[in-house]
Amino acid sequence: MTVEDAVRTVVADHRDQRGALLPVLHALQAELGCVPKEAIPVLADEFNLSRADVHGVVTFYHDFRREPAGRTTVRICRAEACQALGSDALVGYAREAGLAVGETTPDGSVTVEQVFCLGNCALGPAVEVDGRLYGRVDTARLGSILKGTVA
Ligand code: FES
Repeated sequence: MTVEDAVRTVVADHRDQRGALLPVLHALQAELGCVPKEAIPVLADEFNLSRADVHGVVTFYHDFRREPAGRTTVRICRAEACQALGSDALVGYAREAGLAVGETTPDGSVTVEQVFCLGNCALGPAVEVDGRLYGRVDTARLGSILKGTVA
């Protein structure tokens, strides 16, 4: 299935929904693992929007990826509460382990992302790995988490 086919199929599934661009983008990312740049002109055509409008929406929301994530996604909270409790040290630890924020390892095993609040502020620093939330994470614990997820 081409990107264009995927976009048109997902849009058709949401045809009757008002304000469907965001749900379509989420569905597209679930289908393809990302919202590739080839999808932008097709979405613009389907929604009768400019390419710039669609591009603006895709880039405004950090949850939309331009490329597929690795098999494991590690999200480190860098909002104020977690930052005050040491999340910058976690980012530095991950970077030293070859897992820079915003990047995927060359073998496609892990993607590290920064987020700004996981709703776990009282137990910061917070880290989420493939949807599983961890609280009070220090560098030793992050190392253990990564060992469990990095083959
Ligand atoms: Fe990190 Fe809210 S600030 S979970």
